[in-house]
Formats: sequence, C-alpha cells, structure tokens
Amino acid sequence: MDARDLLRSVRMAGSAQGWRTARSAWRRQRADARDLPRHGAERARVPGAALRAEPMPGGGTVHFARSVLRVRVAAGGAVFCGWDGAGPLPSYALAATPKWAPAHDPADGGCPPADPRALLEPDQDGWRVVSERMTVRVSVHGAVEFRTPGGRLLRRELPPRWWDPVGAAEGSRGTRWVQRSETPADARVYGLGGRAVGPSLPAGTYRLWNTDPGGSFEPGDDPLYITMPVQMVVADAGCHLVFHDTTWDGRVTLRDGEEGAGSGHDRHGGCELRMDGGPLRYWVIAGTPSRVLAGWTALTGRPALPPRWALGYQHSRWGFGSEQEVRRVAAAYREHKLPLSALHLDIDHLDGHRIFTVDRARFPDLPGLAAELAEQGVRLVSIVDPAVKAEPGLAAYDGGRAVDAFVRDARGREVRGVVWPGEAAFPDFTDPAVRAWWGGLYAERVAQGFAGVWHDMNEPVSFAPFGEPTLPRSARHALEGAGGDHRQAHNVYGLAMAAAGYRGLLELRPQLRPFLFSRSGWAGMQRYGGTWSGDVATGWPGLRASLALVLGLGLCGVPYSGPDVGGFTGSPSPELYLRWFQLGAYLPFFRTHSAIDAGRREPWGFGEQVLEHTRAALRERARLMPYLETLAHVAHRTGAPYARPLWWNSPGDRALRDCGDAFLLGDSLLVAPVLQPGVTARSVRLPRGLWYDTATGERYPGRTRVRLAAPPGRIPVLARAGAVLPVAGADGAVELEVWAPREGRTGGGLLFRGDPEGWRRPRLERFVTRWEDGEVVVERDGGGAPGYTVRLRGTAS
Ligand code: GLC
Repeated sequence: MDARDLLRSVRMAGSAQGWRTARSAWRRQRADARDLPRHGAERARVPGAALRAEPMPGGGTVHFARSVLRVRVAAGGAVFCGWDGAGPLPSYALAATPKWAPAHDPADGGCPPADPRALLEPDQDGWRVVSERMTVRVSVHGAVEFRTPGGRLLRRELPPRWWDPVGAAEGSRGTRWVQRSETPADARVYGLGGRAVGPSLPAGTYRLWNTDPGGSFEPGDDPLYITMPVQMVVADAGCHLVFHDTTWDGRVTLRDGEEGAGSGHDRHGGCELRMDGGPLRYWVIAGTPSRVLAGWTALTGRPALPPRWALGYQHSRWGFGSEQEVRRVAAAYREHKLPLSALHLDIDHLDGHRIFTVDRARFPDLPGLAAELAEQGVRLVSIVDPAVKAEPGLAAYDGGRAVDAFVRDARGREVRGVVWPGEAAFPDFTDPAVRAWWGGLYAERVAQGFAGVWHDMNEPVSFAPFGEPTLPRSARHALEGAGGDHRQAHNVYGLAMAAAGYRGLLELRPQLRPFLFSRSGWAGMQRYGGTWSGDVATGWPGLRASLALVLGLGLCGVPYSGPDVGGFTGSPSPELYLRWFQLGAYLPFFRTHSAIDAGRREPWGFGEQVLEHTRAALRERARLMPYLETLAHVAHRTGAPYARPLWWNSPGDRALRDCGDAFLLGDSLLVAPVLQPGVTARSVRLPRGLWYDTATGERYPGRTRVRLAAPPGRIPVLARAGAVLPVAGADGAVELEVWAPREGRTGGGLLFRGDPEGWRRPRLERFVTRWEDGEVVVERDGGGAPGYTVRLRGTAS
C-alpha cells in the first residue's frame, strides 16, 4: 500500500461503500494470490543462430536455433512479423476477426491477403524481403530491419528475448518477452493510445494497461483509460507505424537519440517493449502520414461515421437532478441563442445507479422528454456502465445469470467488484454470446428515447482503496473460446463492450448509424465509435493535456474524440472556461461535462463577456459543419484524423514535430488555441505554404514562426492558401469559402454531403481553384461551375 492507496482508503472508510470496496480489494488480492500461476523458475531465451529459411507467399519463414520468425507482406504494404510461429490471427485489433466487425463497413477486409510479389531471398548476412513500400532485412541473429525503398532505415528490431517458465512448451502462453528497437536519432514517437502528454511523447516509460486514474488526471498521470501498443514514428527518413499485437500488460520505454550501441557510429533513438505475455508479433506500415493511417485503418477497420448531429455541440453533466432541470437547461440554451445538438444523461438518472433502469421519481417520462427535445433538434445520450448490480430481481442481473454472462474466478464463482451501484458483477464481453445478450439490453435505452450511448467505467473499474481498481488478474474470460484470464482480457474489455453496444444498436435500429463513444478501448475501437478525454482535471495543464490526447488518439486511428470542455473537476475561471470552449469548438467531439461536485459548465454561468464569446465559437462551429461533415467522411474512408499534428503534410519539417499547442483541422485550417492564462497574442511555427489569418485576412509565409493576435473573443485560426472550404451560409445552404491560392499556384477542396443519420452513400464533390488573367477561378474538378455560392477571401492585398 503506497501513500496514495492509504489516502484513498482513509477517504473511503466509514461509508458502507467504503467497507464494500475494502472487502472487494481484499478479495481481489486473495484470488490472485490463490489462482495466478506461481512465478516459478524461468529460462531466458534468444532466437540463436539462423539455420535455414523458406520462402512463402508474401515473404517467408526463418528458422533459428530456438525460435521461428515469420515475415509476411500483405497486399497494401503492411508487413507482419511473428515470432515463435505466431500468425496475424486471431486478433482483437484486426477488422474482420472476430466475426463481429460492423456489417456496414464494406471497407473491412480482415487480415489482408499476402502480396505474392514479395518473397524472402538470401541477402548478405541474412535474408531480405523486397516490397513496394519497404525492404525488410532479417539478420542471422534475428534482428529485423525496415528500410524505405531508397534504403533509409526506418526501424531496427533487435533479436527478442523471452523468459519461458521452466518445463513449459516453447512459445507457450504466459511467456514474458522484451523487444528492443532502434529508430533514427531525429525520430519522434506519437500514440500509445490516449496519453496526457505530447502529442510527441517525451522519453520515459509508458504502461500498457487501461486504467482509471481515479478522480481526475493531469499531464504526468500515466497510464490512462486507453492504452495501445501503437506507435507512430516520424523521422527524416520517413514515417511508419508499428503495432505490437498483444493485449497483455506491458511497458514501453522510449529513449531519445543516443550513441548506437551495436553499430558504433550512428546515433539513434529507441524503444524497449516489455510484455508480461502474449504472442510476440507486430505490424509495420510505412509511408506518408496519410498512407500510414489509411494502411492502419484498412487493417483494423475504418472509423465509424458519427451521425451528423454528433458533430454539433453537446452538453452533459453528472447531476442533472431531474427532468425539469434537463428541460430548463435546454430552454436556457435556446433563450441564449446557443445552438445545442445533444444533452447527455449521466448515472444520476438511473435508479440507484443500476444500469438499464430509470429513476422514475425524478425522470417520470424520459420518452416524453426525448420527444420534446427532439422537436427542438436536441438528442438525448445515455451513459452505459458495464457493471451490473449483483441484485437478484434486477432484470439485467437475472438475465445475465441466465446466460452465464458474468466473469467468474478460477473456482467458478462470480467475480464481484464495487462500482457506483454497490456490489456488482461484470459481463464477460470476450464471449460472443455475452456480447449478443448485452446488445439486446440496449432495447431499453432505445425505448427510453436515447439517440446514442456513452460507455464509461469499462477499463473495467472496480473501486479499490488499495491495489489496482479493476478485476482480479486471475478472473477467467472466454476470449472468443480460447479461454484465459484477466491479464489477457483486461485491455480489450472496453473494445469488446463497444463491439457489443455497436451491434446492439445496429440491430435495434438498422436504418441509423450508431452513436457510441467509450472511455476505454484498444486498437480497432474506431470501428465502433469514438472516445473522450475522461476526467481531465480543471486547470491550464488539463487543457493542454486534452489537446495532446485527441491528437495522439487520432494517430492511433481513433479520430472522433474531445475533452470535457471546462475540465471535469472544480470550477474553471471564466478565462479558462472560454479558452477550453474555443479549443473544443474545433475538435471532433465538442462537449461540456463536469463532475457532480464540480461547478456548472453552461456558457451563461461565466459572465456576459464569456457568454458572447462562446456564442461566437458556437456560431463558427455551426458555420463549419459542412467542412466537419466532410472531414468525418474523409476519416471514415481513409483513417485521416480530423485534428492532425502540424507535421501531417510535411513530416520532414523537424521544427513542427514537437508542437503541442497547435493543430491542423483537415487540410485547410490551422488552429492555434490559447493554452495559457493572460494571453492575447501567441506565436506558432507554420508548415510550408502560405497562410491567412481567417480573422484579419493577413498573409503569412509558411516555414516561419509568426505572432498572431488572440483576443478573448477568438483563438487564431489560419486558412491554407488555395483552400476551398465548404461552410454553411447565413441561410444554412452550403457555400464555398475560397482562400486565394498563391499567385501562379492552384488549390482545391472536397465536399462530402451525406445522409445525416442513415447509410445512403454520400455524394463527393471536388473543387479546384487557380489564377486566370489576374482573377481567382473556382471550378468543379473536371470543369464546370461549382454550383455553390463562392466567397472569395484573401485577394485584397
Ligand atoms: C466517470 C466518468 C465521468 C462520469 C462519472 C459518473 O468518472 O469519466 O465522465 O461523469 O464517471 O458517471
């Protein structure tokens, strides 16, 4: 028990819930002491010397004295490497495996076929596989190098090391391993799921174990709710993504560029991955950032397309006390002329925090309320926690028992934890039958009138005054029939819950795209929806963390996310609230939310000035809706996040790689939020090209650091010269805002117009712009009038 544990236990003691959590934490410890395999003698193993190799379609197999390595280039260019005979399947990350991937996403291909052109062939000091995007070299000792077609080093994985339990079969489950790798000295690493620092991850150790930080988090708190062994690496030589496909607990240590150990003269950065178990297998995808994300989301599934309303502003609160209060809040938004798209109901609308119930005293007619709000264009979204109160007579509990849905311990007893409703049982979402049962429960939410769901506490959390606030590691899980324990299932619990919820909603309302976002998840979670920051601490550091988190997740393939605007805890100053709101207005998921004991987050609670400025931010959000919808379709088709780091189109520009306080929104806009108090001007280093301050029309050349005005009323937003930006005009009709290209240059833009909530194919229109006889001309790609009102900007100077 460390000091933090002690503090927690003191705080919890005294209440009934306090005793329950203490008991549950003891039970957890006892179960693990009893049921986890003992740490017996282990034997270290390295691959040893290579003995022979066999070519196979896509690559081949190299046999070493004590292991086997399989290299396989897939169609599309992703390279798979599996040690000890590991293949790509089964995998929770890959799109069509298990078989519950969304039916409505034809882009899902499962494990892609091998590229038959790639074959393993002898090379000096080993073998190589030459493919279109990468050359892979395997040394006789088991080092694997990934190089660009031009021969530049992207990544070198050194020979791995395993610790096998003495007496166990080689490569058996439970084997710990470590994999060290080297990257060029100038490389920066992004991703690893949702982290509170970055987006460029500083040297240090990052844990791979989804965790509720408890209370709230700030930069420096690690890990958080979503961890993923996914790294996006950006270097002069090129970009690549590496994904180590194992769900076990582990640690990634990133090192800055340093003197190369083996080769003597080259400096390199590096990474060490230490895993408690699971297969040692990984994928490498190389290319430009957009190609890498396209390759990654081809492999793990394209991001779900949110319904159009989910791109609008949403308001939430833990502690809307009653239907009347919800009505009052909606009415106040209307009165203040603040467009509102959805209201979220937290656990306090449930009957004693019991999932799939309603507190009828305070919310007597939710379907009526939902219908009334729908008339005003406001949707209701419901929280859904996984833990089911262990209470006979409760429909979800009895139903779950009837289908044997709940996680059991090694002796076959139901595992109990403590969450909001008290003592609770946990559905085993790694069982397909349990997912099907759980999905069916969403019928109750749909009947209550909810338009979407918000998955929470699914790391999963079980409160604990000491030890880890989750299930015992020894708890048993189905793991798609393979069987295993919580050490292997923990990190995919939220992902599998999302799969269940997504499928449930889809089956209940096949004509509508499900709206789901989930606090926890893993590689591939984008197939089912998005996520949010979780309980980010109110404060300027929390504001910065929330941007890092959104950008990092986008590079892991999860583009739809955003923070609790205003922060989850306490009360932001009017200035902090406003700056948070102004940032949120340019992020995909734009929602105010706060804790039950925190101050309110309605825009009218911070004074007249703030109200006026939030209204301006909301108007701008509404004006950008056609652009945001286009970005949602682009993300859905290609995996490119809406919010991208500044280096997205110029990864070779080192000066952009560590920028943590500005981002690109799609191809056309650059957003430079204010993340510090007392600031009315800020500087930003621009990517190449020519940029316009959208507020002043001022032109700025790229590749320079510029200083921009950031008065309280707005944050700096720049438009790329040549951008054709679809926006909503005063009457709501789509217009094209065209930013003059640089003289003699061209530009362009896209417009996706789709079904707001259904599955009909969207229409894609492309526009181009150029100078002709001293005038800026805008046309459809291929010729012809654009067909929309064009507003030309940036030509005055
Ligand atoms: C968790 C969530 C938070 C929610 C609260 C109560 O802390 O992260 O958003 O309000 O639980 O449900």
